[in-house]
Amino acid sequence: MNQQKERQLNQISTWVREKLINEGTGHDWLHITRVRSLSIEIAKKEQADLFMTEAAALIHDMIDEKLSEKHRVSVDELNKRFSEWQIEKDEADKILSIITNISFRNRDKNKDVKLSKEGMVVQDADRLDAIGAIGIARTFMYAGSKGHLMYHEGEFENIPSAVGHFDEKLLHLKDLMNTKTGRKLAERRHDLMVAFLKELKKECSCTVQTALLDEKKAVW
Ligand code: ADP
Ligand code: NI
Repeated sequence: MNQQKERQLNQISTWVREKLINEGTGHDWLHITRVRSLSIEIAKKEQADLFMTEAAALIHDMIDEKLSEKHRVSVDELNKRFSEWQIEKDEADKILSIITNISFRNRDKNKDVKLSKEGMVVQDADRLDAIGAIGIARTFMYAGSKGHLMYHEGEFENIPSAVGHFDEKLLHLKDLMNTKTGRKLAERRHDLMVAFLKELKKECSCTVQTALLDEKKAVW
């Protein structure tokens, strides 16, 4: 990577760090650094462009509506930054396209969008950070911050709970990986979540229910 690109990545990371250091919804600077490292690891194996991957990984949550207004920026502001950092228009457009199309929440809306290789890498990295040990930790923190239950008894009612989130999203992510490397990294993390849920079920005297851990609908 040439010096100009290294300088641009430094500028981006300084800016994102400042913006997200106090973010409280699970999209804080530490999430970004984990997604950045995973993205670089996957990009190297998948021969994706390292500059585009790292830039998109750093910026991936910055325009997302789930961030509070204080932390989020508009597309206009982001474009202003891109020109300040002298990122070429063509590259800036590609980064913007990646970050608008990778969200899990918008997967139905974006299902016909073909992600670039770098987009696939960053999406895999973002999803890997939602599963495994770190995924479990983030889920319980998120549920706690929203006042959700840890789990609920009875059938799979529509009550938000941390355990419910495994059914809604986390246990599906392994099968949604785009890259071979991402799929491989997801396996161990997925198995850990399954083992964790089984153990939780045991310790809670079998009152923990998740549809995907139900024998009939088991996904493993
Ligand atoms: P992303 O679109 O980057 O996956 P989310 O806002 O959906 O971001 O999730 C941020 C973190 O909070 C993730 O670890 C996610 O699994 C967790 N999370 C999101 N929604 C819930 C929920 N309803 N209950 C528990 N954890 C959640
Ligand atoms: Ni993210």
